[in-house]
Amino acid sequence: MANDYIVKDINLAGYGRKELDIAETEMPGLMALREEYGAAKPLRGARIVGSLHMTIQTGVLIETLTALGADVRWASCNIFSTQDHAAAAIAEAGVPVFAIKGQTLKEHWDYLDKSFLFEEGPNMILDDGGDATLYILLGARAEAGEEIIPVPTSEEEDVIKAQIKKRMKASPGWFTKMRDQIKGVSEETTTGVNRLYQLKRDGHLPFPAINVNDSVTKSKFDNKYGCKESLVDGIRRATDTMMAGKVAVVMGYGDVGKGSAASLKGAGARVIVTEVDPICALQAAMDGFQVTTLEDVVSTADIFVTTTGNKDVIRIEHMREMKDMAIIGNIGHFDNEIQVAALKNHKWTNIKEQVDMIEMPNGNRLILLSEGRLLNLGNATGHPSFVMSASFTNQVLAQIELWTKGDQYKNDVYILPKHLDEKVARLHLDRIGVKLTQMNAEQAAYIGVKPEGPFKPEHYRY
Ligand code: NAI
Repeated sequence: MANDYIVKDINLAGYGRKELDIAETEMPGLMALREEYGAAKPLRGARIVGSLHMTIQTGVLIETLTALGADVRWASCNIFSTQDHAAAAIAEAGVPVFAIKGQTLKEHWDYLDKSFLFEEGPNMILDDGGDATLYILLGARAEAGEEIIPVPTSEEEDVIKAQIKKRMKASPGWFTKMRDQIKGVSEETTTGVNRLYQLKRDGHLPFPAINVNDSVTKSKFDNKYGCKESLVDGIRRATDTMMAGKVAVVMGYGDVGKGSAASLKGAGARVIVTEVDPICALQAAMDGFQVTTLEDVVSTADIFVTTTGNKDVIRIEHMREMKDMAIIGNIGHFDNEIQVAALKNHKWTNIKEQVDMIEMPNGNRLILLSEGRLLNLGNATGHPSFVMSASFTNQVLAQIELWTKGDQYKNDVYILPKHLDEKVARLHLDRIGVKLTQMNAEQAAYIGVKPEGPFKPEHYRY
């Protein structure tokens, strides 16, 4: 179908293509998969719905999937994360993409719906945060007359329900048909993976899933080193504030929190961490950070960043205590880490796209980034290509695995085997001039592994 896409401006395609060409030079894992599998086309016949930030890096992922034989339709998984030139370049290359930076929540769910509209229906999902999976499963439940399970925010719940009703009216039985056609889903992020394990626990997972996030070469790299580069990038592009000397509070010290705290520390900020988990709290303390509660520092800190994947972490009572011109942002997947809805009846002044100043009843002003949505993708351009190459190489391997061997999997959540994790890492060594040491057979036998790997037991934590 001609013009089967929704992008901001198709004339941005030339600029997008130039940046895609540059990104390819920084994404050796994806390019190696094109080389290895391009002729065999293991994804031939796969019709993949993609719901993942429509960035330049994702463009290289999409073109790797199509080079391996897949048909792809794409929506972004966040209303602010699309790079319009990337979307334009991908649309111009003939892949149906539905994504505009700054789209509304209603458009977000409508575009997701459109990404399912393959002539013969899709048979695979590539998800980030679980929206594509959620949409189909909620719809199928609604068609079965069951109750819709809770979704992140009440505002979003209303929009999803409206979109589901619209589709049910237009095509009765559609969701159930879609669900039954899907052979598997690969999921990118911590929050989406949590949703999948909950679905499995409650007996609602109707197809096999691969948890890409917990490949070591994903969460210990993208979540950590990615945020280390992209968090401060987002704050700077949004505010141009001087980072050195500022007091910054990072809520959560998981993989994203570790990268975020390192990012702020590297920029010269004085970083304080909050945690609920004693292990992560101890790690933060031994990495040299003060660890305390938000309440302790809320009235004196300058910058607040949530990284927890949890909800209601910065609440209205905290924001009332913050000092004038405090900066608040979130880098976790959903916007409910900060109680943005509770600010809606305050005076908002838009400074520029994805930056708002909000006047509190006591006269203090707060700078809110990306309305509480992930600021590294909303205010900047997300993680650099190199680290996304590691994540997306796992994604492609997961899609190949589910598409070619899906029948061998139960309706459960799986992690890619360690030899593939090691392969992903290996594919990224040359680009940065890393030389590996080769063990001899005797050494390998002594530590109980094969000379070619896997090099660690499953329980090793890196
Ligand atoms: P994680 O589970 O490793 O870390 C989250 C940490 O937050 C945990 O250590 C947990 O104990 C802590 N936590 C939970 N509730 C808390 C509270 N109320 N106060 C303080 N700490 C609390 O998860 P990970 O991988 O770090 O991911 C965090 C979020 O970031 C997820 O939503 C994930 O999907 C998202 N993400 C975002 C990326 C981005 O580029 N913006 C990249 C990767 C993940």
